[in-house]
Amino acid sequence: MNKALRQAVIAGNWKMNKTRPEAKALIEELKPMVANAKVGVVICVPFTNLETALEATKGSNIKVGAENCHWAKSGAFTGEISAPMLAEMGVEYVVLGHSERRQYFGETDVTVNRRVRAALDAGLKPIICVGETLEHREANITEMVVGVQTKAALEGVTAEELKNIIIAYEPVWAIGTGKTATAEQANEVCKYVRDVVAKLYSKEAADGLTIQYGGSMNAKNAAELVAQPDVDGGLIGGASLKAPDFTEIVRAACQG
Ligand code: PGA
Repeated sequence: MNKALRQAVIAGNWKMNKTRPEAKALIEELKPMVANAKVGVVICVPFTNLETALEATKGSNIKVGAENCHWAKSGAFTGEISAPMLAEMGVEYVVLGHSERRQYFGETDVTVNRRVRAALDAGLKPIICVGETLEHREANITEMVVGVQTKAALEGVTAEELKNIIIAYEPVWAIGTGKTATAEQANEVCKYVRDVVAKLYSKEAADGLTIQYGGSMNAKNAAELVAQPDVDGGLIGGASLKAPDFTEIVRAACQG
């Protein structure tokens, strides 16, 4: 079974939520609940919560990620945070190319690729988001869109570096909308991404790649989604803000 060749990872994407005291409280609640998880557990938090999260998760199985990073190492980029800055703090993961960054902050396939390069160079593990809009899906170009996003993001990435990458398939129409892709739709596109990676690298590289589903995954629908053969966990927005809900998704993934 190919699923045994890779690790499922449940990653929370907190987006622009939680003050520092709220972040600490959520992590303290979560820690004992997910302590025995057999899957990877990551929380990606706002920059202002990174230090709090790193401190609170010390000695636990919860890994910490940021939600973005700039492609330059340093320089005149007011308001930005670089990959080496995150790495120096002890941050392990970084979400890149999230559809909200693409939609509201002018992120393109080219800038996503530059950020991926910077993250890898700094020793961070990118969680690269790809996904089609409703318009794309209705025009039957989901595979083309997701294929291009995947190829562009991975431009210049070696097979060795690919081992430190997670791809999150997140249909834009399913994010924060309460509309989840069906398990079949999620699996179909995750499998397609895996096929693209197999062609770019090798079957072995593709089999080892963690490909998550994201988009309104919650305590109720997680089990069916993560049980799919090509879905290796999830990137969770809204449901990651409540410890019991996030824990339920982690539990589902441990069985998936
Ligand atoms: P959602 O967000 O779970 O709230 O739909 C997912 C994401 O944006 O990563």
